[in-house]
Amino acid sequence: MIRPTTGIDPHQLTDDTLREHIASELIRTRLRSVALTDAVDEPDLVSQHSPLMSPLVWDYAHIANQEEIWLVRDVGGREAVRSDIDDMYDAFKNPRADRPALPLLSASQTRGYVGEVREKVLEVLGTAELNGRRLTESGFVFGMVIQHEQQHDETMLATHQLRRSGPPLQAPAPRPAIATPLPAEVLIPAGPFTMGTSTEAWALDNERPAHTVQVEAFYLDTVPVTNGDYAAFIDDGGYDDQRWWTASGWQHRNRAKLSAPLFWSRDADGSWWRRSFGNLIPVRNDEPVLHVCLFEAQAYAAWAGRRLPTEAEWEKAARWDPASRRSRRYPWGDEDPTPERANLGQQHLRPAPAGSYPAGASAYGVHQLIGDVWEWTSSAFQPYAGFEVFPYDEYSKVFFGESYYVLRGGSFGTDRAACRGTFRNWDFPIRRQIFAGFRTARDAS
Ligand SMILES: [Fe+2]
Repeated sequence: MIRPTTGIDPHQLTDDTLREHIASELIRTRLRSVALTDAVDEPDLVSQHSPLMSPLVWDYAHIANQEEIWLVRDVGGREAVRSDIDDMYDAFKNPRADRPALPLLSASQTRGYVGEVREKVLEVLGTAELNGRRLTESGFVFGMVIQHEQQHDETMLATHQLRRSGPPLQAPAPRPAIATPLPAEVLIPAGPFTMGTSTEAWALDNERPAHTVQVEAFYLDTVPVTNGDYAAFIDDGGYDDQRWWTASGWQHRNRAKLSAPLFWSRDADGSWWRRSFGNLIPVRNDEPVLHVCLFEAQAYAAWAGRRLPTEAEWEKAARWDPASRRSRRYPWGDEDPTPERANLGQQHLRPAPAGSYPAGASAYGVHQLIGDVWEWTSSAFQPYAGFEVFPYDEYSKVFFGESYYVLRGGSFGTDRAACRGTFRNWDFPIRRQIFAGFRTARDAS
């Protein structure tokens, strides 16, 4: 009998192996933060490149401040390293637009602080009791801090995409598309599935608990909507035709003068180009479209005679295995992401052509659900039935409601530690600086 291989499940690790796993994830994550902050000189680290973003140096010190609060003070029970800067690096006390005016630590002070906190964290990790308290059970709080840093690494990558000064970022091209043509859409039959998780050790509160959801039959695009598809919508006058836009979408389109995805420009000969981390590159027809807001995604879908999937539809298509009648951790199974399965972790800095990851397809045959581009859904960010705040209100609870919409699946800028089949991201419908695209659906009846 072949035993199924499983990904790293912190529940299953011995105490020593769990500590080693946490240490290697902390170190791996930090290498990314260091690369993102070493990529530019001091003036570009401390300045604000967009009112939507913090100075890079704020993100970096905020990462360390959260690490200090949770791991050094709470878990370690140790004295504060810098309690005097807590307020300055509190995201709720200081809106992004106000952060450049704060008396922030300089780049070298920040690096010193980041290093000092990390040294103490590794000492705490060596001795902390990991069991007997929900916060530390299976290393949860370390996993939460690792994911927090990875999320800020994606935010810092978005800042690099927005900045107009300093050196461009370079990265190797992602893998090419497979030659085999894929069907345009996949049928997901009606029936219940298990949404969310009660067992994933490092899952955050909003992903919990596992619960059964009935989903009607629907068709879902096999791959995300591509630049070529999207350019056809533009060429057909999609941005100027109110019929395709929701009322709030049309209002926003007028206010923000939307006419193409963010960072796109058109040559005199009609060809599209896009700015990508300081490089001007041709828009590739076979790549998933990127930097569109929810309203643009909805307008495209309406133009195509389709709609966006709900969050439950997306997760069923991604996780449900009709043969074993259980939900997988990832579309391909329970094993952790690898470079063969998904474009994650800022390795390529752009989405891969549609159909590039056959090894990452779901049980139903839907491709590229994890990695490449975040996918807008038609669902507002709401708690699941049975939701419990953990470990604090500001993680998810304060964001629930009708203001934010859910995005799923992660992008090329998302790390594997901060991405899984149950992971929920949320943002305002107008946001375009995030690495978001979408795919469309339709009812099967
Ligand atoms: Fe944060």
